Amino acid sequence: MATTIIITGGAGFIGSHVVRLFVKKYPDYKIINLDALTYAGNLENLGDIERASNYIFEKGNILDTDVIANIFHRYQPDAIIHLAAESHVDRSILSPMDFVYTNVIGTVNLLNAAKECWNGNFTNKLFYHISTDEVFGSLGEKGFFTETTAYAPNSPYSASKASSDHFVRAYAETYNIPVVVSNCSNNYGPNQFPEKLIPLFINNIVNEKPLPVYGDGLYTRDWLYVKDHAKAIDLIFHKGKKGDTYNIGGFNEWKNIDLVKLLCKLMDSKLYRKPGTNEKLITYIKDRPGHDRRYAIDASKINRELNWNPSVTFEQGLNETIDWYLENKDWLQHVTSGDYLKYYELQYVIK
Ligand code: NAD
Ligand code: TYD
Repeated sequence: MATTIIITGGAGFIGSHVVRLFVKKYPDYKIINLDALTYAGNLENLGDIERASNYIFEKGNILDTDVIANIFHRYQPDAIIHLAAESHVDRSILSPMDFVYTNVIGTVNLLNAAKECWNGNFTNKLFYHISTDEVFGSLGEKGFFTETTAYAPNSPYSASKASSDHFVRAYAETYNIPVVVSNCSNNYGPNQFPEKLIPLFINNIVNEKPLPVYGDGLYTRDWLYVKDHAKAIDLIFHKGKKGDTYNIGGFNEWKNIDLVKLLCKLMDSKLYRKPGTNEKLITYIKDRPGHDRRYAIDASKINRELNWNPSVTFEQGLNETIDWYLENKDWLQHVTSGDYLKYYELQYVIK
């Protein structure tokens, strides 16, 4: 089985959970975390394992072909788990080209590096591409995304991820690179950058700032605890069928407004505020353009073939998440100074 793995985007939200799981669970593997440390990358996420003997951090941008070639040459990886990406829909609406560069061209750069490094010898090699359910577009009131649902991306983010998925597939078909792809629903949990719904709203509740709900608030997402996503990635990496795709989801659909109200309620009690206090912060604002109405994953294939199921309930996961943010105010403070304020102005204040 693979021993040297390059994990891209390992300093980000999901990547840091994947790196930690692999470093701890597989002491014989060499784990190389390749990350450019953009605004979303933060080595504080990995403070507890940074000195592990099977872990190496390499700062590098997947857009830089020389850097990638050098890293592949030095480490001769058996596998890539590719998470590095621009990941926020609202930012993709503000600056779509960043998404084309990193998500599309960055992915193709990595595929080229793997192809050159492996040079036709694909025994025990794997390129594992981490993708999103957003590539499938939007569902109506009923139905689920399966592995055979047609792609219909609606945002620059999802279009860039869809494009990268297609390139991964094309490299498998054309050059025989062994690949696997998984498409996961919305993640939540510790270390998520406070631009996404749950950590943004936790941060605003702590600071008694308005909670900006887009449109009518009746948009639906399927939420999965990040550590359960990391476990699914571990399973797919080791037992997934080469060339296949797997949908991963939490069987856990929430309308945004119901989720926000639950968050307000849980945090009233954790912050010793009078019941109903935090709900008063809810503010409906102008909708996101091209806003997908509903995502819902049918995760029966990974359940059936790899015996995967989410291990925590939403209530457990949400409680752990809120507690983590309340106990890690320094982390929150570090990531919400400087550029975060500029983004916040652009996204929420100027409108
Ligand atoms: P994130 O934004 O928290 O982290 C992205 C990481 O990639 C950061 O560490 C960043 O520094 C790094 N990065 C960005 N551009 C880079 C570049 N050009 N070169 C090298 N490193 C670069 O993202 P996340 O939420 O952890 O998502 C990780 C992956 O999972 C992405 O591919 C995303 O599309 C996918 N995904 C995310 C979710 C979700 O709910 N967050 C759901 C399904 C799939
Ligand atoms: P988000 O966390 O950005 O994930 P995604 O767009 O990838 O699903 O948003 C989740 C949902 O919450 C989505 O329907 C948009 C909505 N939302 C708000 O209403 N207000 C906000 O400030 C944010 C960031 C999201």
